[in-house]
Amino acid sequence: MTEVPQPPHRRRAHTSTRDLERYAGLFAERTTVMRSSAMRDLMAVTARPEVISLAGGLPDTSTFPPKSFAAQMTKIAQESAAAALQYGPTEGFDETKDCIVEVMAAEGMLPDPDDIVVTTGGQQAIDLVTKTLVDPDDVVFCEAPTYPGAVPVFCSYQADVRQVEMDGDGMRIDLLEELLEELRAEGKQPKFVYTVPTFQNPAGVTLSLERRLRLVELARMHELLVVEDNPYGMLRYGGEALPPLYQLDGGDFVIYLGTFSKILSPGIRLGWVVAPPPVLEKIILGKGAADLCTSTLTQYFVRGYFAEGGWRAYVEDLVVLYKRRRDVMLEALREHFPAAATWTEPQGGLFIWATLPDYIDTGDLLAKALRNDVAFVPGTAAYVDGRGKNSMRLNFSGVTEEEIREGIKRIGRVIGEQVDLYETLAPGSSEAPSSTAAPSAQDQSSDANNVVPLRRAGGAGA
Ligand SMILES: Cc1ncc(COP(=O)(O)O)c(C=O)c1O
Repeated sequence: MTEVPQPPHRRRAHTSTRDLERYAGLFAERTTVMRSSAMRDLMAVTARPEVISLAGGLPDTSTFPPKSFAAQMTKIAQESAAAALQYGPTEGFDETKDCIVEVMAAEGMLPDPDDIVVTTGGQQAIDLVTKTLVDPDDVVFCEAPTYPGAVPVFCSYQADVRQVEMDGDGMRIDLLEELLEELRAEGKQPKFVYTVPTFQNPAGVTLSLERRLRLVELARMHELLVVEDNPYGMLRYGGEALPPLYQLDGGDFVIYLGTFSKILSPGIRLGWVVAPPPVLEKIILGKGAADLCTSTLTQYFVRGYFAEGGWRAYVEDLVVLYKRRRDVMLEALREHFPAAATWTEPQGGLFIWATLPDYIDTGDLLAKALRNDVAFVPGTAAYVDGRGKNSMRLNFSGVTEEEIREGIKRIGRVIGEQVDLYETLAPGSSEAPSSTAAPSAQDQSSDANNVVPLRRAGGAGA
């Protein structure tokens, strides 16, 4: 009998040059502009237990009561095992949509359940919207800095990404208007404006009411689609809630993206899109091609959890916890970061954006920080064009107060060493980031290292 050769069972240590050559000719053109996600890359390093990671955007899932989790899973096993283990509709179950409507109503929105598609996390929502709307070289506007996880998506679809500067009141809508004018002069129309208007990732700032109204007005005037990504709206630690863009617009030109990741769990991978029916139809086609449907099991979990009625109380607990962690981080920054540094003081969400003197490259700084077992996201991850070199994103939700203090102390120490070195080499020339004023339109095209720091918001709020 002929013996069937067995494939070798071994872990491939590295991809060799020969391997690369073998496959290179097969890659699609879009792979040349694909980028990896900075956070994913960092996860490999930050998984080491001794590393204090201020890099991820991790909610503290240890706060979710294991008993509640066990009770839900047992109930599913006993009452609906076969259905929960089966495929489901591509657009998601009606019961999941009811939970989504409940979450959106808590922020003042009243979507039609028929306008909702359940997605595999908010990340897939960004991917599907971009897949539906963007051809290579189509223009997409977003904030500068933008959500680092959106950058690889826009790059994969070969979008022409134009980033609009922010200040303490969010995206500069006046600059957006100028850029829209310029684009129109080129005979082009952008495909959409992507924004995280509330407690932005990474900057932590919130779009003011005045700017929200103007953005929605512009959308109507120019039939411009605005993609509002709102994972953090319910994580508010101070100040007054502002109406989401979706609420102001009524859903004609605003496509809304939501997720259960930050109010319940990222592990369940449940998000959603609310879009006008013709757009939704295409998104559902795209989703069917991508993954057939979102996890049936986790949709059953959410349905059961919402039926218990305690989801808002859990979010309130998270708010108390994260508010304290934000305060601890702000205090640690004041204590350990040099006078030349500035940072935002977010009224919600999970992130603080810090800007250092422009001679410091936070990519290099990260290597030094990792040697001290602490991590952050370097600012360049939030730009498509290499800007953000002297900025960093710091997360305060996924670490304990003690870790926050120690982590910021260690980062402060490596920054201090850089400042001292610079002072020694060029005495008297170290200074605070060049300006705290909002940038002019011309600043937008300036040198890659020159990111205007975001003005500190007026007080951290109650
Ligand atoms: C602005 C924003 N959008 C989308 C996501 C993706 O979240 P998920 O896919 O876990 O729902 C995140 C996660 O951090 C985010 O910050």
